[in-house]
Amino acid sequence: MSKAAFVQEALADFHTTASVAPSSRYLARAMVKPLEVAKAKIVVEFGPGTGVMTRELLAAAPADAQILAFEINPRFVDYLRAEIDDPRLEVIAAGAETAAVELQRRGYARVDAVLSSLGFGMMPESVSREILRELMPLLDKRSAFTQFQYLHGLRLRQSNGNGRGKVEFFNLRAFLGEYFPTVKTSICWRNLPPAKVFSCRF
Ligand SMILES: C[S@@+](CC[C@H](N)C(=O)[O-])C[C@H]1O[C@@H](n2cnc3c(N)ncnc32)[C@H](O)[C@@H]1O
Repeated sequence: MSKAAFVQEALADFHTTASVAPSSRYLARAMVKPLEVAKAKIVVEFGPGTGVMTRELLAAAPADAQILAFEINPRFVDYLRAEIDDPRLEVIAAGAETAAVELQRRGYARVDAVLSSLGFGMMPESVSREILRELMPLLDKRSAFTQFQYLHGLRLRQSNGNGRGKVEFFNLRAFLGEYFPTVKTSICWRNLPPAKVFSCRF
């Protein structure tokens, strides 16, 4: 069910979904491990989709953790709310751009871990920068951030959001390096397509 729902959404809006299938559990584990979620209290997820990574986060998080998952696709939001029954999870039907406002509204001043599945290479650069600009004040030396990118997309051009944008190469490592002093990478081959995981810290 979740795979079929995901493919349907990808076909309807590929540039927002940024993938044709949900991630494998191997990629989900590779994204969650560097976050050291077992010690976390506040965890943020950007782009949970059908929840492959969300479930891994919940499996690793302590009983008193709070996971705030930001998703803009209303079908994924409904699906997650119906399928994952865990008091530690709140699915927020809003873009990652609103994280600072939404966290402030809930009384959270900082975040321990952020897992992002956003297609930074597919969205306008101004939106990618807005998301990180809003997020950075919530992070500190104890915080961790992970992001993945498909290997075939490593030199993907950044479009204007509808695939018809200016042709330019996008270097995600350099982009993340502008915000985080430490960016480590690893490759997860057991995903279709294989992906590079970026693990960022201060
Ligand atoms: C590549 S999919 C990843 C889905 C899931 N995490 C996985 O790994 O299978 C990207 C997800 O980000 C969501 N998304 C795109 N732009 C977003 C934004 N600005 N804020 C929050 N979610 C967004 C899409 O709807 C989609 O669910």
